[in-house]
Amino acid sequence: MKKLYIETMGCAMNNRDSEHLIAELQNKEGYTLTQDAKEADLILINTCSVREKPERKLFSEIGQFNAIKKPQAKIGVCGCTASHLGEEIIKKAPSVSFVLGARNISKITQVIHQDKAVEVDTSFDDSTYAFSKNSNPDIKALLNISIGCDKKCTYCIVPHTRGKEISIPTTMLLDEAQKLAQKGVKELLLLGQNVNHYGIRFSNPHKPTNFTQLLRELSSIEGIERIRFTSPHPLHMDDEFLEEFARNPKICKSIHIPLQSGSTKVLREMKRGYTKEWYLNRIEKLKSLVPHVGISTDIIVAFPTETEADFQETMEVLNIVQFDTLYSFIYSPRPHTEAQKLHNPISKEEASKRLATLQSRHKEILAQKSKEEIGKIHSVLIENYRDEAPQVWSEGRSDTNRLIKIPNHVLPLGSIVPVRVAHNDGGSLIGEMLPQ
Ligand code: 5AD
Ligand code: SF4
Repeated sequence: MKKLYIETMGCAMNNRDSEHLIAELQNKEGYTLTQDAKEADLILINTCSVREKPERKLFSEIGQFNAIKKPQAKIGVCGCTASHLGEEIIKKAPSVSFVLGARNISKITQVIHQDKAVEVDTSFDDSTYAFSKNSNPDIKALLNISIGCDKKCTYCIVPHTRGKEISIPTTMLLDEAQKLAQKGVKELLLLGQNVNHYGIRFSNPHKPTNFTQLLRELSSIEGIERIRFTSPHPLHMDDEFLEEFARNPKICKSIHIPLQSGSTKVLREMKRGYTKEWYLNRIEKLKSLVPHVGISTDIIVAFPTETEADFQETMEVLNIVQFDTLYSFIYSPRPHTEAQKLHNPISKEEASKRLATLQSRHKEILAQKSKEEIGKIHSVLIENYRDEAPQVWSEGRSDTNRLIKIPNHVLPLGSIVPVRVAHNDGGSLIGEMLPQ
């Protein structure tokens, strides 16, 4: 039996790509997964290049794997850094056997048999490739609805690493979702760089459609109880979409809406396509339709043109929206982006200060929000059972995406149960079962 070790960095899209890589290698090449790189015949590193740090780590990781691997074992570099560094990776690290870009993952079964293959064509079209099915899906499954990204955000390397946006045909998605439901999957997480741009371009003639329509069609599948998606773009959050989000009981009431900056001036320089007012208007509309909605966001601080006043506008939006989850980053200049050419007058100390200010205010917001959770009733999808004697509990997520533990209960995995939040145990919410 050949053994595969895989390390995955980056976003949910990369996790999905890793699932594809594993399924192809298991089903077509007879590999089994191992957690120990030392016994692997093939080591894959599925990389991220969205910020500079993980990219820098790549070469030291290759060195570490090379030092411990079996003599005949191959190392392959996949994903976004593979796309953008290409053959430079093999030049710098000759122990690497092949380089497979994020847009080319369906070629995995070819490149493992070639020596020093470099497949990084970002115009390659994987959108209708029937990947091997994940043989062992969980209660929750990831489902890619599009590949690539058509936006031109000036800070972002992704359009360069993942190429132009192409949607996956609706019939393929419905078919896949149906199969997942038959295997016991209850919750789908739809993935795309820009999910609510779905339907903009297909490889082959396709009926006119959009993301709202896709949500309606997927939610008609029996057995699929919950649908989540990431990430929608604030610009394409039209009323029709927000109304479907509110009305459709299968769509979880939690949503990731990347803000990036609260300053209209910075948003323009980032080429985000919306203003602070538009963003706040969409949030207001959403909250008026779904008052208990959970909202998460991404924010970049210290974009090169961000002044202290611009940063304060970001703080203002944070205070108005009261996000449930915040992913925040210091701007990192990336190759092949427009913003890389900008002069950056912001010192590292100032950037770190802004990040700390943002994060500490968000912590306060979270503490307040967690207090407000006490007494609320949620339906929880049970995903896990823990036995850490003398404590046993079941746990799962509310449809607003809060993790809730239910002590002293062994509940069937995949069941959806009503729970009242009893207290907050320093981070985790503790719930009690309600009669069904
Ligand atoms: N610097 C810092 N953060 C970035 N992101 C994307 N590009 C950069 C960059 N150059 C962040 C954005 C995006 C998230 C996935 O990563 O906030 O939404
Ligand atoms: Fe995901 Fe972007 Fe990182 Fe690529 S660069 S793995 S798309 S976060």
